[in-house]
Amino acid sequence: MDSPKCVSLIVSYSILIIITILSCLPDSTQSLCTTRPLIFNFGDSNSDTGGLVAGLGYSVTSPYGRTFFRRSTGRLSDGRLLIDFLCQSVNTSFLPAYLESLGSTFTNGANFAVVGSSTLPKFVPFALNVQVMQFLHFKSRSHDLLSSGSQGMINDDGFQRALYMIDIGQNDLADAFANKYTYAKVIKRIPFVLAEIKSAIKSIHDNGGRKFWVHNTGPLGCLPQKLWLVQPSSRDLDSHGCISSYNSAAKVFNEGLRHLCTELRSELKDSTIVYVDIYTIKYDLIGNASKYGFTSPLMACCGFGGPPFNYNINVTCGHDGAQACNQGSGFINWDGIHFTEAANSIMASKILSQRYSTPRVPFDFFCH
Ligand SMILES: *[C@@H]1O[C@H](CO)[C@@H](O)[C@H](O)[C@H]1NC(C)=O
Ligand SMILES: *[C@@H]1O[C@H](CO)[C@@H](O)[C@H](O)[C@H]1NC(C)=O
Ligand SMILES: *[C@@H]1O[C@H](CO)[C@@H](O)[C@H](O)[C@H]1NC(C)=O
Repeated sequence: MDSPKCVSLIVSYSILIIITILSCLPDSTQSLCTTRPLIFNFGDSNSDTGGLVAGLGYSVTSPYGRTFFRRSTGRLSDGRLLIDFLCQSVNTSFLPAYLESLGSTFTNGANFAVVGSSTLPKFVPFALNVQVMQFLHFKSRSHDLLSSGSQGMINDDGFQRALYMIDIGQNDLADAFANKYTYAKVIKRIPFVLAEIKSAIKSIHDNGGRKFWVHNTGPLGCLPQKLWLVQPSSRDLDSHGCISSYNSAAKVFNEGLRHLCTELRSELKDSTIVYVDIYTIKYDLIGNASKYGFTSPLMACCGFGGPPFNYNINVTCGHDGAQACNQGSGFINWDGIHFTEAANSIMASKILSQRYSTPRVPFDFFCH
């Protein structure tokens, strides 16, 4: 054996050994929580893990859920949502929908998010203020059951240590555009939406919550459903083919939300309020789709009509006549509105990188 070959063999062996050693070390993405992670989530379809199905008896059928759960779970995706990946990152079970009474155990928190929810109007199922009222009921029930000797209930200390996640606003904007509000009128409504989010956070804080995780809203104008609904003649498209006015309303909302979080940080000094820039993550995914292994970022995997959007409001995913692509992992968008598990997975790893968070704290900050 000539020596260069031998050297190269030794080098390859060393690399192999290093790789082997590295793969035996604890995965750096594995959480090292020192207390049991407790999470309460409020929001819409972006984080609904079964609330709509349990609460209204609405059915979400195959091919929803086909990729990961291999059955429909009420999630509006082919697999896991962002919140599922975040739960996995702290090694806790998927968050059960608050309204799922059969078989649920709420030992790691509860998910109040329901498909279609917005902040306004209030007091209708399942507006943000209703979700917060449900949480207050959950908390007082836990207290009563704990007093009468029930095991496994979350106590006051738990409610204080828990993470409170909020991901809402998309439907407030979408509903306003759907009601043919002018752009100016949509923008005028934003402060009222933000006031609801502020009131939700303050109400949770009044009831002991100290750790908040707030997602901003994504580029609404890049959703295949919106692109399909808006007449070609009245579409003002940006360089990635998304509706400019919808995206700019989302950006105005996000700017307000970021500002609200800053304001709340000085008001609620005993709290940590993390603002997460989902918009930038989603827009990058769409604008640089091929870099992430996706094709047709503005086309739904599951729907009807084929390119450019594969969407038709009369033949939506899960209904007769709709068809799903073979490889959901090649698509960002699942059903015209919601993201695929593949896209959610990339988004989760970006969130966990802390680069999109203000302040930059690791997601597991609440379980130490
Ligand atoms: C994750 O949770 C499981 C069961 O709850 C436990 O057995 C395992 O040790 C945990 N792993 C880490 C890294 O915390
Ligand atoms: C695409 O990626 C480049 C390089 O990371 C970045 O500068 C750009 O903003 C991204 N595009 C979008 C639409 O986010
Ligand atoms: C959808 O259904 C409605 C009511 O049946 C009909 O008026 C409309 O033309 C349909 N739209 C498309 C695109 O098929």
